[in-house]
Amino acid sequence: MAATGNEQRGASAYYVSTPIYYVNDAPHLGHAYTTVAGDVLTRWHRQRGEKVWFLTGTDEHGQKIMRTAEANGVTPQEWCDKLVEEAWKPLWEHLEIANDDFIRTTQKRHTDRVQEFVQDLYDKGEIYQGGYEGPYCVGCEEYKTPGELLDGEGEFAGQKLCPIHKKPVEMLKEENYFFKLSEYGPRLLEHYEKNPGFIQPESARNEVVNFVRQGLQDLSISRSTFDWGVPVPWDSGHVIYVWVDALLNYATAVGYGSDQAKFEETWPASVHLVGKDILRFHAVIWPAMLMANGLPLPGKIAANGWLMVGGEKMSKSNLTGIKPQDLTSHFGVDAYRWYFLRAIAFGQDGSFSWEDFSARYTSELANDFGNLASRVAAMVGKYFGGTLPEATAHSEAEQAVADGLAKAVAEADAKIGEELDFAGGIAAVFDFIKQVNGYLTEQEPWKVAKDTADAAQARLATILYTAAEALRGMAVLLAPVMPATCEKLWISLGAEPHIGPLSVQRVQEAGTWGILPAGTTVTKGDVLFPRLEEPAKG
Ligand code: MSP
Repeated sequence: MAATGNEQRGASAYYVSTPIYYVNDAPHLGHAYTTVAGDVLTRWHRQRGEKVWFLTGTDEHGQKIMRTAEANGVTPQEWCDKLVEEAWKPLWEHLEIANDDFIRTTQKRHTDRVQEFVQDLYDKGEIYQGGYEGPYCVGCEEYKTPGELLDGEGEFAGQKLCPIHKKPVEMLKEENYFFKLSEYGPRLLEHYEKNPGFIQPESARNEVVNFVRQGLQDLSISRSTFDWGVPVPWDSGHVIYVWVDALLNYATAVGYGSDQAKFEETWPASVHLVGKDILRFHAVIWPAMLMANGLPLPGKIAANGWLMVGGEKMSKSNLTGIKPQDLTSHFGVDAYRWYFLRAIAFGQDGSFSWEDFSARYTSELANDFGNLASRVAAMVGKYFGGTLPEATAHSEAEQAVADGLAKAVAEADAKIGEELDFAGGIAAVFDFIKQVNGYLTEQEPWKVAKDTADAAQARLATILYTAAEALRGMAVLLAPVMPATCEKLWISLGAEPHIGPLSVQRVQEAGTWGILPAGTTVTKGDVLFPRLEEPAKG
């Protein structure tokens, strides 16, 4: 057969993206929420053995960044460089985010391609010149429709406010270039219809469908009153609208227009994770831009809800932004990664509370999971000199644990890997942890150990093997969520010399019973979840 080039490309990658974040300020819990979700999703697919690509980055153009830089007396580029290097990248490292690339929209690899893309639309007759006047929110970097604005009160009395930022909008009148977005309504609706999973959750899908059904307006894609952006290639008096520039990152970062082989192997994205505030940009404008250019559409746009503080979206602009480091210094990085995905149904809003985090940490992580691991290691140490014994006296109770693991694997894989129901998937694993704790309470190995008869010793060995094998399964299933902790558990089980590193354990096989062989060296190791210190009284 003649080589077509396709053989080399192989199966296309599972490609996940986060939004690219505005660098007007340092990251807060809300930003980290989406990025951690993306990291868990990609680690899950890696644990399945799939080829994965995980992209994050920063959105550096536009008026919001320009004004912030001006207010701080530096150039926009200096501002972005500082924030990216000192705040954003270090946070992702701290949170163990395993992204494959980090795109910045001021990079030439991006700006050149943005110009080409827009030029191409212009050449195809998709862009025309026109005028526009309307209320603009700099926080959103978006023209608003008069109907969605709120009436200001107090210091903003008499002014119209953005419904998201609760700050006054500005009336803008400009001669701009427009993209013929209005022509794409029918094709978009057809795509939503044919691909029911394209927008997730259902509520987000309905909102977008209703919005598009009402009829789309053409989109202003250039700005001429400031210059912090990518110049419009055929008219240097304009810069490209920051959202058009930003959305294109998903394509430019994986080789659009520069590395065709990489692009074909990676594009289209499997999942764009977005906050619900930026859903329409991703589910309406972005697919229309791709249609206009003849590129395939992403598989899914998954909208997450907001982390709320006092009933409002957590944000720096209303001074409710909490730094992730304020929590990781107390709870640890892995517990932090776990908590928000465990406690809040993905897609819905949720409130953060220190008390809820502490309570769940103590009951689920320290007592249920951490104690289970340390008790099992301690008993293998005490009764079998630290060598995992063989299970020779199976009973129904052991079969129930084996079945429980298989069920947890199937549920977690469907929920986390496919449905993006992180809370449901993690709950499935923690139900299994509870089941194994219940099994030990019922079997009472510490009592069985007192009987030196062969049959009793065989039971003791079987019980401890069963618990250790269950822990093996938990380590595989929780590794994407709590990588460092599960690594410690893997070491404590003495698994690596016998069955290889944790990273090569496959989700698909995790529910097969008996993978951990007898004879491993089990050690107690560090406590997985140390007792929490009392928070300092301020
Ligand atoms: N730069 C644009 C995105 C361009 S993507 C092509 C932007 N940036 S942002 O920094 O303002 O916000 C990005 C994302 O951060 C939100 O959509 C959301 O994913 C996340 N969040 C910011 N605040 C949040 C909460 N309070 N809660 C949950 N997520 C939030 O919009």
